[in-house]
Amino acid sequence: MERIMITGANRGIGLALVREYLRHPEVQLFAACCRPDAAHDLQALSADHPDRLVVLPLEVTDPEAVSAVAAAVAARTDGLDALINNAGINPPGQSLAEIDTETMLHVLHVNTVAPLMVTKVFLRLLEGGVSPRVVNVSSIMGSLSHTSGGGYYAYRTSKAALNMVTRIMAGDLRARGITVICLHPGWVRTDMGGGGAPLSPEESAQGIVRVISRLSPADSGHFLQWNGEELPW
Ligand SMILES: NC(=O)c1ccc[n+]([C@@H]2O[C@H](COP(=O)([O-])OP(=O)(O)OC[C@H]3O[C@@H](n4cnc5c(N)ncnc54)[C@H](OP(=O)(O)O)[C@@H]3O)[C@@H](O)[C@H]2O)c1
Repeated sequence: MERIMITGANRGIGLALVREYLRHPEVQLFAACCRPDAAHDLQALSADHPDRLVVLPLEVTDPEAVSAVAAAVAARTDGLDALINNAGINPPGQSLAEIDTETMLHVLHVNTVAPLMVTKVFLRLLEGGVSPRVVNVSSIMGSLSHTSGGGYYAYRTSKAALNMVTRIMAGDLRARGITVICLHPGWVRTDMGGGGAPLSPEESAQGIVRVISRLSPADSGHFLQWNGEELPW
């Protein structure tokens, strides 16, 4: 059984990833979200697959919650094969006229600092995994070379910084056999992506699962997108 942990799993791309992985019989899922009691879709999936899907509480910026969720996973398995840091935010109020310190720091906390801290706490479990992989869900909006203005100060900055976290961590963890990538899921029709996005959550999740299944240590430190293509920094 491949053991996979997904953050922000109650809706959007995270939920689509859960659904896609459940189509693969050899996967054990740990699906984390802020409020499991309110995560009705996830709970329904868990009721249908009680042996394969464990729903766990995790607000990614809460260090105690991160430790508790790692302990809950460690109580069920001695290794994790993939950690998908998917939880993220892109709130309103990020134009040059509107952006403020509070928004900048909050978005950086959720999108950049939290994936780093979650991964740090999960390292022992990842070291017990088979071909362990860390997938930081980033965005083409974090690409420096792709950017030529257009607001989203906090979101773009947080994803560019997440890409740097990925590069640094890939170097740090290479000798420990852990592959670390950042991945753009495509522009996807979720609450964040909006109704005009070209990709459905299912199409994005199918592609992401395929990319993750094909990762090798040679991919570590790379910026890929949902269909496996490499993206510019
Ligand atoms: N959709 C796109 O077109 C697109 C494009 C590029 C990159 N991405 C990235 O893909 C990832 C998923 O995006 P999405 O489109 O699925 O967004 P979404 O529909 O807005 O869902 C975001 C998910 O993240 C969770 N989350 C937010 N803050 C959290 C926190 N502090 N702790 C725990 N969970 C938290 C949310 O939980 P709650 O329900 O509790 O708020 C929700 O499950 C994000 O990292 C996003 O930046 C998306």
